[in-house]
Amino acid sequence: MNIIVETTPFADQKPGTSGLRKKVKVFQRPHYAENFLQAIFDSQYREPGQTLVAGGDGRFLNREIIGKLLCMAAANGLRRTIVGRGGLLSTPAASHLIRKHKASGGIILSASHNPGGPDGDFGIKYNVANGGPAPESVTEAIFAEAKSLSRYVMTDAPLPDIDRLGRSALGSMIVDVIDPVTDYQSLMQELFDFDAIAGLFRSGFTMRYDAMHAVTGPYAVEILEKTLGAVPGTVVNATPLPDFGGHHPDPNLLYAENLYRLMMSRDAPDLGCASDGDGDRNLIIGRGQYVTPSDSLAILAANARQAPAYAKGLLGIARSMPTSSAADKVAEALGVKCYETPTGWKYFGNLLDAGLITLCGEESAGTGSSHIREKDGLWAVLLWLNILVRRRQSVADIVREHWRTYGRHYYTRHDFEGLAPDGAGTLMDALRRSLPALAGTGHAGERILQADDFSYRDPVDGSIAHNQGIRLFFESGSRIVYRLSGTGTEGATLRVYIESYERDPTRQALDTQVALERLIALSRDVALIERYTGRSSPSVVT
Ligand code: G1P
Ligand code: ZN
Repeated sequence: MNIIVETTPFADQKPGTSGLRKKVKVFQRPHYAENFLQAIFDSQYREPGQTLVAGGDGRFLNREIIGKLLCMAAANGLRRTIVGRGGLLSTPAASHLIRKHKASGGIILSASHNPGGPDGDFGIKYNVANGGPAPESVTEAIFAEAKSLSRYVMTDAPLPDIDRLGRSALGSMIVDVIDPVTDYQSLMQELFDFDAIAGLFRSGFTMRYDAMHAVTGPYAVEILEKTLGAVPGTVVNATPLPDFGGHHPDPNLLYAENLYRLMMSRDAPDLGCASDGDGDRNLIIGRGQYVTPSDSLAILAANARQAPAYAKGLLGIARSMPTSSAADKVAEALGVKCYETPTGWKYFGNLLDAGLITLCGEESAGTGSSHIREKDGLWAVLLWLNILVRRRQSVADIVREHWRTYGRHYYTRHDFEGLAPDGAGTLMDALRRSLPALAGTGHAGERILQADDFSYRDPVDGSIAHNQGIRLFFESGSRIVYRLSGTGTEGATLRVYIESYERDPTRQALDTQVALERLIALSRDVALIERYTGRSSPSVVT
């Protein structure tokens, strides 16, 4: 029987860069999760008989909310829901399942790289039929429903056992509990030369994959250890935990510090990798060689033909605006276009659907391709492995050769987290107002050529996104970008992205923070960061 529950709207259910992300405590308020789920059903599932994919990254509340979601999906007239066993699905696996089963969409329970546990974060992301994050028009429609909601519906029929594979019924809806790894693994096997990679491991190639107690553990164990023959123990922190073992499942130099230390030590294996909470981000470190995500995108693009899936070459490349222009240099050499989109994966979907690009990526450790419509952590690792096996060189040699060929883009991101929202907002407003006056001015030996606020016009549907980040372009070719995060759950986060280009191979071996020292200081002065935020240094440097 369907039960109708009366509710009142929450005013704060506007999805951000990547779904609705809030503190667990917020999602624990009575009706909070149900309201948002009902807003998805009301705006996207009015037509009866549709199929949905559901799963999450295993964080605290995952299981509880999967149960609610299933009961609500059944009461909202869905024909079928495909759910990962135990309620688990990585974001890339969910994207693939939506496409494979021609589902109307998918609900992914994740706050990505944010910490979990009862005091951590939770999130609900909605993906559409192409497998990608909902575009603005859809998130706006969901938000509009959420603002005027007065009831939600759920069945009181008993929930099927989501730990057992197979089909069952929930009210009049079919529930298919599937293995979260199987379909994803088959897709990877189609894309890459598994035999050659297995040969690489047989020849003694060593690797460490830090799954950070997040969702990719089971995927990485199955694919890297059990299928490709990497020695057991290659994947560490492989069991997904509701609180990620108390850690921050963000594969960057701060939160994957142990991996970084290992890779810089004498005991380093050939390759070190990590992925985030929901498995869409990746970190690549060679022995003694960190690879920035911007460089990784460029190197993967330059070498993609080494993998069977991309042997015919690339249609084009896209990167988010704050990502360094290393990929642009590769696109130029390949004779294809490099698109520059706002931050967030949703902008890549149209370009991929229209066949304008094959690879895309962001500076925030996200890389992906036309195989799905999300970034994909393990995919990036497998593409690196496929390239390493074909090139028979170390990661460090490949990186240095890349810089010699294309030039090096020194690149860093400085995050000022947990700021008072007013101060951060005032800083951005003041900077925006000063833009016309900034062009042509000199600062610490650098001259600003152009200063603007990035707007994007989608080449496929013509939609326009304004205010996507403030950019300062310097005569020297350097660039500084400022934007406020759209994924934080506590106060505001100011992100400052700093980049300079070095063509001369004799000056390509500097430490990044040293190479960018002057620009870093300048970035703080121009935006008056200390005055508006009270902070003289960032909380995270990547
Ligand atoms: C951050 C990253 C962005 C990424 C998003 C979701 O968003 O900067 O590249 O797409 O997480 O993983 P932000 O907090 O900057 O809005
Ligand atoms: Zn993620």
